[in-house]
Amino acid sequence: MSSTTQFNYADHFAKGLPPPSASATVDNPTYNFILGHTCPDLVPVEGLVEASARALRKDGPGLAINLHNGGLLGYLPLREFLVLKLGRHRGIDVTVDDILITSGSQPAAMLLNAALLEPGDTVIAENFSYVGMLGDMRMRKVNIVGVPVDEHGMRMDALASALDDLAGRGVTPKYIYTIPTVQNPTGSVMPMERRRRMLEISKERGVPILEDDCYADLVFEGEWEKAIRSLDDSGHVLHMGSFSKNLAPGVRLGYVVAPWEVLSQLLPLKGDIGTSTFGQMVVADFFHNHYEEHLETLRSGLRKKRDTLSAAISEHFGPSVEPNHPRGGIYLWVKFPDGVDTRKPLAAARKEGIGYNPGSDWAVYPADDRRNGNNYIRFCYALPTEDEIWKGIELLAQVFQRELGFPS
Ligand SMILES: Cc1ncc(COP(=O)(O)O)c(C=O)c1O
Repeated sequence: MSSTTQFNYADHFAKGLPPPSASATVDNPTYNFILGHTCPDLVPVEGLVEASARALRKDGPGLAINLHNGGLLGYLPLREFLVLKLGRHRGIDVTVDDILITSGSQPAAMLLNAALLEPGDTVIAENFSYVGMLGDMRMRKVNIVGVPVDEHGMRMDALASALDDLAGRGVTPKYIYTIPTVQNPTGSVMPMERRRRMLEISKERGVPILEDDCYADLVFEGEWEKAIRSLDDSGHVLHMGSFSKNLAPGVRLGYVVAPWEVLSQLLPLKGDIGTSTFGQMVVADFFHNHYEEHLETLRSGLRKKRDTLSAAISEHFGPSVEPNHPRGGIYLWVKFPDGVDTRKPLAAARKEGIGYNPGSDWAVYPADDRRNGNNYIRFCYALPTEDEIWKGIELLAQVFQRELGFPS
């Protein structure tokens, strides 16, 4: 029998799978403004080396034991750190039993969706929102109702009328998905007053809130608005966070804060026999010792890059292109004049080594001319160096010029 005979799996796959991946390679253009990378120079390498050594000397033999020191909810010292951090910085008063550690907040979202959503269900989201979440909802054949966002986040008048409209059709959404602090992609931060109003609406209508707080540590200007979860002890708010933005996405750690009624339903769906104890040990040790100091360095480094990107866009694209001025995070949401379709120069930009995400990537309604975001770009400024930001934007303006006759 020939060893080269290939087994054909086509007839063996389960039905209803998502389309297969086109490739296993990672997209890494020279001038990389895509995805949600952080800054290589701001990864606290030496601190993590020390934390690894300390954590392993202290508790390394425990790695021999499945779900060591904390069981299914996650490594206890990391949950203890989160209790402190959530209390101090997000106003959330919880215990270690209210927190489940996951391999990032995308898996946290997928677990919540697996537990809460069925095909045909409805969810509410900001009109432009995190593509990983929208993708998971779409895969689950869920009806996503987008609500407009202004510079203060999701608009509460529009939320109320979307809920009225749905109620008129006998539909109660499963939850309201919101990124209230440094919204992705628009960068808006929801003031406390609006957070209170959203919670009131949630209670009046019996629709819980899923609060995605993954950028909350990256606010580098103004107040630190507390989490919506800080206003609620009645179980209306499911809260999730991540170590991808305040440390590094390669760490692959995130968490859910939820009542036991919900956590106990997530555990049987979390088919990974626990999140990596090794990673949790290192991050717990590092953040117990260096949280404030690391965040200060990270925020000031990111702030500098935000200002560099903003300056480069103004210089090379001119005044008709309007970058927002987010109070934190890793993205600029940039508005081009009406009629400039930022998808068109994408392929030509790639040939020059420039990667960016057109606004439509984040649209709940990509096929609707009035709200598809075709004249926007979301740039991630965290990964490229300042020189790469300047050079990449200069080249991009030349590509736009060639392909669209803009800027003139
Ligand atoms: C709003 C939001 N939520 C969740 C995630 C997922 O992050 P991770 O799984 O790395 O924690 C991202 C990543 O960019 C995001 O922007």
